[in-house]
Amino acid sequence: MPAGDHEVVVVANRLPVDITVNPDGSLDWERSPGGLVSALAPIMQNDDGAWIGWSGKPDFAHEPFDAEGMRLWPVPLSEREVADYYEGFSNATLWPLYHDVIVPPTYHRAWWNTYVSVNRRFAAAAAEAVAPGGTVWVHDYQLQLVPAVLRLLRPDVRIGFFNHIPFPPVEIFAQLPWRRQVVDGLLGADLVGFQRPGDAANFLRAVRRLTDLQVRGPQVTMPGRWSRPDRTIRAQAFPISIDSAQFDALARTPAVLARAKEVRRELGSPDVLLLGVDRLDYTKGIRHRLKTFGELLEDGQLRVPEACMVQVASPSRERVEQYRQLREEVEVTVGRINGEFGTLGRAAVHYMHHSYPPEEMAALYRAADVMLVTSLRDGMNLVAKEYVAARSDLGGALVLSEFTGAADELGQALLINPHDIDGTKATIMRAIGMDARERRRRMRALRRRVLEHDVQRWADDFLGYLAMSVPTTVEA
Ligand code: F6P
Repeated sequence: MPAGDHEVVVVANRLPVDITVNPDGSLDWERSPGGLVSALAPIMQNDDGAWIGWSGKPDFAHEPFDAEGMRLWPVPLSEREVADYYEGFSNATLWPLYHDVIVPPTYHRAWWNTYVSVNRRFAAAAAEAVAPGGTVWVHDYQLQLVPAVLRLLRPDVRIGFFNHIPFPPVEIFAQLPWRRQVVDGLLGADLVGFQRPGDAANFLRAVRRLTDLQVRGPQVTMPGRWSRPDRTIRAQAFPISIDSAQFDALARTPAVLARAKEVRRELGSPDVLLLGVDRLDYTKGIRHRLKTFGELLEDGQLRVPEACMVQVASPSRERVEQYRQLREEVEVTVGRINGEFGTLGRAAVHYMHHSYPPEEMAALYRAADVMLVTSLRDGMNLVAKEYVAARSDLGGALVLSEFTGAADELGQALLINPHDIDGTKATIMRAIGMDARERRRRMRALRRRVLEHDVQRWADDFLGYLAMSVPTTVEA
């Protein structure tokens, strides 16, 4: 296959921009929120990089174009492919399966077939874009077959894969009717990265159980065929992070600090402000959090208007049935708590089904006394890291589920098991009552970790390991 001219190619389900098509057919775009693109921007610009991804719009087809200092390469998806590959196999099969089957995964052969064909399309685009001997970095569970397909098309390139979500224990993974194909797809990479060491270990156990390949420590050996030498694949944890310095700086700006004060005033100057910020996803434990808060009000341990909670739940995957159901349940529960415990003009839970710009999020973090991260399973949870990065005043307390990747790094948070309602209630009360010295000591330690281990370091670590992998022989 003829080579392209991009030294570094990122392949992700989504492009890093939100695109608007103007009536005359021209495009406008805005950088999507998130640290990934800013961490990769310097590498992409120096090495003439390309980013391959879906625009987020069904049936959007466009030639590759330059934006954000790199070449953006849209992969078109039809309405049916969005339904079967994205909403179906990615978000109603793999997502629940990889998150401890919190809701039952659905297995449909038609969805799988579309997942295969869409993965092949992404791989073909990467093969066309990447320069001889270049590097391709594939991201996340939507694209697990890309590494192996790409290796067949372009055996000369280095291939890295990073899984942003958990990788389940083999006992759960084994439910997937196409488990072997997924493992083979990932083993097309030279380096397979995960959020936590436990995820990498789960993957290596799946390789051991489902293939005859030799696994030693973090390495899998793939025997060479014909004149090709053996190939090694490394599986390892690379915990992702945020652009910590940038978030820290944003949260110190006079505008954000003024807005944080204003937020508290708008909420009636409560003594205690609890905050939850999530995509509206059943993995986030929002129902558990609301139940816990509701019980604290019921017991009289907290009272409105002295205490209140803000819950930002940004809209997500709204055409997937389980997400619709979750929205109904969360909104009914918020209504019930407010009906029971709110007073005229003072709600117990201020619920917002919107996304907000980073400035508003930073102000909310600065305003909150206690941040509640109660995920039932979460690959990392970057909200926890944003909260810490925002608290240069060393105020606030982080209550963090032990089922997040972030809990591995943020040991100075108050860790909880969100299923244990009594335990979580006690921990929230402890966070509220914590003396200033302990609060500062914990936040200082948390900040050290988050500021030192930022998204740039994550990308450099991953690409550093990938560069050390032995390149496969270049075909004549
Ligand atoms: O956590 C996995 C992830 O795919 C993130 O990369 C992304 O920000 C989020 O889930 C939302 O995904 P999407 O809206 O593309 O389904």
